[in-house]
Amino acid sequence: MLVTRSSDTQRHPLLKRFPIPRRAGVDPASRITSGKTWTAPAGATRVKRFEIYRYDPDSKNNPRLDIYEVDLDSCGPMVLDALIKIKNEIDPTLTFRRSCREGVCGSCAMNIDGTNWLACTRFISETTSTASIYPLNNLPVIKDLVPDLTHLYAQYASIEPWLQTTTPSPVTERLQSPADRAQLDGYYECILCFCCTSGCPSHWWNGNRFLGPAVLLQAWRWLTDSRDEATGKRLDDLEDPFRLYRCHTILNCTRTCPKGLNPGRAIAEIKKMVAQRQL
Ligand code: SF4
Ligand code: SF4
Ligand code: FES
Repeated sequence: MLVTRSSDTQRHPLLKRFPIPRRAGVDPASRITSGKTWTAPAGATRVKRFEIYRYDPDSKNNPRLDIYEVDLDSCGPMVLDALIKIKNEIDPTLTFRRSCREGVCGSCAMNIDGTNWLACTRFISETTSTASIYPLNNLPVIKDLVPDLTHLYAQYASIEPWLQTTTPSPVTERLQSPADRAQLDGYYECILCFCCTSGCPSHWWNGNRFLGPAVLLQAWRWLTDSRDEATGKRLDDLEDPFRLYRCHTILNCTRTCPKGLNPGRAIAEIKKMVAQRQL
């Protein structure tokens, strides 16, 4: 039938949820089982529950969810404080990365209540009544909350993230005007926590070829640096249907960046620069 009006279009009732089993496609060895519950000590007055993903490849067991009850009266205010308390006082086998405790090193990135964030900058009071803590999604897990970042760092190395010049070195340092320096604002602050790349659907599907938002933001940081003289080569390397153009501007990356940066904008700037050099 020729459709001449929108009312001619066939309508189907929307299903509430796509009718597939919740674990469809999940490797049986990756299915999460119930774990142990570590109850709060007697006399604890302000008890908070943390449901934490546990996986130990050496055990050959499936991942599990352990529940830890923590007395907040003897715990710092951040999720990282609770993890450190659990490791120090309840279960020393719990494994996670952390270093600075100040939102600067990017080590403690994890999935907290369904969104990627830094454990050291998320208040416990902002989490749900049972806070669920998982490793960054879509990355192989080394142990518990520690993801394997090898591939992401290889992608980072591929953009050659250092100053490249062809003109002779000046006697002193290469200078920048305050205005040129300001072009780096919003980009140089990236701490490579990979919250954004882990949350990017395009990287889930094409992570072997698409560079992802963190690495592309870094690529733009060098493209926009007035001292760098490798712009043409950098753009040649990026101009590729997968490395750059698999970004579909979904902007999950910008939404999840714990430093408030805008990788989506950096990617748009790169696309604009590629287009402008073709004019
Ligand atoms: S804007 Fe691009 S990089 Fe960011 S989440 Fe969407 S597809 Fe990924
Ligand atoms: S852009 Fe933000 S989320 Fe992405 S790696 Fe940098 S700091 Fe982390
Ligand atoms: S411990 Fe460094 S960012 Fe959280």
